[in-house]
Amino acid sequence: MESKSNRLPMGQSRRFILSDETQFAIKEAYKAARTNLVFSLAENDKKTVVITSCSPSEGKSTNCLNMAITMAETGSNVLLIDSDMRKPVQHLLLRLDNKIGLSSVLGGIVRDVSKVIDRNVRSHLDVLTSGPIPPNPAELISGSRMTQLLDLVGEHYDYIFLDTPPINVVTDAVLLNNRTAGIIFVVKEGFTRHEEIRESLRKIRMTNGRVLGFIKTNCSAKPLKSGYKYKYKYKYNSYGDYR
Ligand SMILES: Nc1ncnc2c1ncn2[C@@H]1O[C@H](COP(=O)(O)OP(=O)(O)O)[C@@H](O)[C@H]1O
Ligand SMILES: [Mg+2]
Repeated sequence: MESKSNRLPMGQSRRFILSDETQFAIKEAYKAARTNLVFSLAENDKKTVVITSCSPSEGKSTNCLNMAITMAETGSNVLLIDSDMRKPVQHLLLRLDNKIGLSSVLGGIVRDVSKVIDRNVRSHLDVLTSGPIPPNPAELISGSRMTQLLDLVGEHYDYIFLDTPPINVVTDAVLLNNRTAGIIFVVKEGFTRHEEIRESLRKIRMTNGRVLGFIKTNCSAKPLKSGYKYKYKYKYNSYGDYR
């Protein structure tokens, strides 16, 4: 077990987290993604969503946080769980203490999850950090304590967003399939390869998972006729687009 300081890993930045300074077009893109997500979950009792992607550094954690922030802005009560117990960053992005967290609850070190949750990180947004890095993350994610935890927090929150490790590297994200409504899949323009996406989707299908939608990130600047430019575009597509 190890605990971490609030120093970000090399190259990781807080500047992509939604704030008052974020460009209008980016905020609007997240709101569009939120609307699509709300509709795709309308028929679902579970409002627990996994954010994942094929590989490391494709924007899972940033988009998980931004989707949680955007959802909380509607007044819905939102919980973000950093379920990436291998390379957790949410506590670093949000400058939170991580001496105890998800791994402490799943490992049986902390019994009362409510004592571990950081309240009102933003208005209506609570966060459960990863906790110290455990030796057996997949085992913990697939164990009965995780089911109990999701059942319990599911009673208190309108939406729960789970940050996870990359699907083509470890199985953690798909291990959550039967306890969650589905997956938001992040693809990074100019980086994520089509074969990798196909491989990830195959894994999700094989484990009876459901892709709720895609977020395309790191999109190139597109000058519009009006001369107005925006740097990042977030796209939220239906599953069919990438089959
Ligand atoms: N919209 C974006 N455009 C450019 N870089 C980004 C964007 N969102 C995140 N990043 C950067 O990409 C890197 C990986 O982001 P992160 O969200 O941690 O990905 P993952 O969780 O998939 O590893 C970080 O350095 C982050 O600062
Ligand atoms: Mg991450």
